[in-house]
Amino acid sequence: MILSFGSLNIDHVYNVKEISVPGETIAAIQYQVFSGGKGLNQAIAAARAGGRVHQAGCVGPEGVWLRDLMAAEKVDVSLIDVLEVPTGHAIIQVSEAGENSIIIFGGANQAMAPLTLEQGILSRHRPDFLLLQNETNLVPDAIKLGARQGIPVAFNPVPMDDRVMHEYPMQDVSLLFVNEIEGALLAGEDQPDAIMDAILGRFPALALILTLGPAGAIYGKGDTRIRVTGQSVEVVDTTAAGDTFVGFFLAWLDQGHPPDQALALANQAAALCVTRPGASPSIPFLSEIERLGGEPAG
Ligand code: RIB
Repeated sequence: MILSFGSLNIDHVYNVKEISVPGETIAAIQYQVFSGGKGLNQAIAAARAGGRVHQAGCVGPEGVWLRDLMAAEKVDVSLIDVLEVPTGHAIIQVSEAGENSIIIFGGANQAMAPLTLEQGILSRHRPDFLLLQNETNLVPDAIKLGARQGIPVAFNPVPMDDRVMHEYPMQDVSLLFVNEIEGALLAGEDQPDAIMDAILGRFPALALILTLGPAGAIYGKGDTRIRVTGQSVEVVDTTAAGDTFVGFFLAWLDQGHPPDQALALANQAAALCVTRPGASPSIPFLSEIERLGGEPAG
């Protein structure tokens, strides 16, 4: 079982010709509201990959539909609290090229209670993995508690900030998911191989997954490197592609598959995700990948 301790957002998505630059006012071509938040997206991706997932999180009264939506995805939502604070939200611009620019407002995501964390980790349903992103409060506490309990911590440090590099107990993280930008910030290097070597050199026990967008991804642990090349697809919206990758990778690992198969499956799932609009609605089901004949053996 995967315990996702993370954010739930209402995504306000504005389709624009090009993403606005400082000082510019632009008109949106279309406006839509979607379910999102890296916690919600990754949990739903893991569930759609066949994983057993519990979500711990917080929403305000106007965000209860996010909890109901997760329950409909067969995610256990008993650790989602409803508080009298605004639900977290995101303002997302999506350009005609499918690129995005995201601003998040934490709201209820920043009001997670230590008790919820303890209930999730110390419950009789002991998770196999604790999955974290950087959109909630209590992230360093969660890393420490997970590690203390011997539960592997999978961390996607987004949005990346100074605390991740200087204050978080990164030595207690077991699996780290970063893209090239986050990886470069952590490593102080900008080429994929150098990023891998620098981060793994610093944290020798870590499994590192570096996603490279259309160029695929690299898995590394110790001296091992496994690469997967990207798939050529028509990009509509890249939102939640990284979340899809994380959820599928972890769910596949949790179901006993080796990292090379998890990497291949996650790569296929993320490629399918970018061909559709929105965050969680764009996440594929395992059955869709199987229908495309793409499920890795095993
Ligand atoms: O990764 C995509 C997600 O980032 C969006 O759903 C948005 O809510 C932000 O959390």
